[in-house]
Amino acid sequence: MRYLTFALAKGRLAKETLKLLEKIGITCDEINDPKTRKLIFQNDELGMRFFLAKPSDVPTYVEYGVADIGVVGRDTLLEEGRNLYEVMDLGFGKCRMCVCGPASAKELLSKNEIIRVASKYPNIAKNYFKDKKNQTVEIIKLNGSVELAPIVGLSEVIVDIVETGSTLKENGLEVLEEIVNLSARVVVNQVSLRMEHERINKLLSDLKGVLENE
Ligand code: PRP
Repeated sequence: MRYLTFALAKGRLAKETLKLLEKIGITCDEINDPKTRKLIFQNDELGMRFFLAKPSDVPTYVEYGVADIGVVGRDTLLEEGRNLYEVMDLGFGKCRMCVCGPASAKELLSKNEIIRVASKYPNIAKNYFKDKKNQTVEIIKLNGSVELAPIVGLSEVIVDIVETGSTLKENGLEVLEEIVNLSARVVVNQVSLRMEHERINKLLSDLKGVLENE
């Protein structure tokens, strides 16, 4: 039997995904060992393999077909823009992509001013300001702690993920505009969906069954 390969976004999403897979009888003991530094795991009985990848690389592994299935946040899918089938919303990892900043920046957004926007998600930011708002902005790519940017004057606003809102609040910032709702998604390689449609459809319907009963 050909191995069905999963690419999981390392971290909290992978943990949640593995818990969910366990509920439908897909297990992999080794992967739950907190001390392991391994990145590939397999269950020979089930004919399944699991990669733990950096979230932004998950769509790449799936598009190139080295993983059949991926689980990753919608933020990453929108940012990476890969050719994949998005087949299921797993409902966890819920948060929002927003334009945030100090309350005083609201005016700059409504008056269509040329502003600087800092973000870990330059493509999402660019598309939002260009296509949705038709506002000319300068995007500044950052790699983390993006909330710093408007505080220290690097940018007027940021485009970032808001979950509880506490990072914003503790730094005197707020949500100025909502861009899109996010959550964990299952993606499938386009060829795999045809070649392995039986196994993949069974997996998806089992997952659906568990999610409906939660
Ligand atoms: C994310 C995001 C926000 C924060 C939002 O950052 O970029 O900073 O979480 O969560 P909250 O609304 O519940 O406060 P992450 O913790 O991934 O770290 P990073 O800033 O280094 O990217």
